[in-house]
Amino acid sequence: MRFEIVTLFPELFDVLRTGLLGKAQDAGTIDVQAISPREFTADRHRTVDDSPYGGGSGMVLMPTPIAETLEHLDEARGGQPTHRVLLTPQGARFSQAHARKFSALDSLTLVCGRYEGFDERIRGLVDEEISLGDFVLLGGEAAALAVIEATARLLPGVLGNEASAADESHADGLLEYPQYTRPEEFRGETVPDVLRSGNHTAIARWRRKESLRRTLERRPDLLETAALTDEDRKLLQEIRAER
Ligand SMILES: C[S@@+](CC[C@H](N)C(=O)[O-])C[C@H]1O[C@@H](n2cnc3c(N)ncnc32)[C@H](O)[C@@H]1O
Repeated sequence: MRFEIVTLFPELFDVLRTGLLGKAQDAGTIDVQAISPREFTADRHRTVDDSPYGGGSGMVLMPTPIAETLEHLDEARGGQPTHRVLLTPQGARFSQAHARKFSALDSLTLVCGRYEGFDERIRGLVDEEISLGDFVLLGGEAAALAVIEATARLLPGVLGNEASAADESHADGLLEYPQYTRPEEFRGETVPDVLRSGNHTAIARWRRKESLRRTLERRPDLLETAALTDEDRKLLQEIRAER
């Protein structure tokens, strides 16, 4: 899968050379192209921003360098389609569902803002607007990195063990069950007996129940949309009775 990033700071994406995503790039599973709109300016200062019409503080990214960067990327892709996403605190909040949707694409183009944000007409150049959450960053790069990481780890071959993506929080609408590793006892706290029992049916039931318990305690809103079985509903009754 190809990730294209339009950013004033392409070097920030060098971090994707590290760890599993570095390996995924070496293996050709993902291709990361970060490009600056300054390359598509004609003036000596490579200007990409200007003061807002109507006055006010800060600078606004101009539409022309962004549009020309996107057109350059289209050409470099040989006209193959992409999905363009604007990173903005005004967008839909990024979720695992977005990551799943993006992981089915051949190409995703992420447009990062800086300063006071974008000229409004840049919104017309993209397919979708995404926010990392209800806070304001200095630029869209940290948000783009989060989108790339959440998406790329769902691609076949990126994680060593594909089952880890299937089990974890948000994969099926629930939070993940508690995990333990060695030592068996840590400062007086022990690993639950069932996990050391070797009884895979009992372990699976315990994990499902603890996943439901954790979701009920921390994110009850998720239970409204999670696909629950009759057995899940029974487990939830048990949990409520235990409380
Ligand atoms: C300082 S912010 C501009 C915020 C803009 N003035 C507003 O109120 O919507 C600069 C850039 O950072 C990025 N950014 C900031 N917060 C973000 C968030 N929560 N999610 C995604 N991108 C964000 C956007 O690309 C934005 O254009």
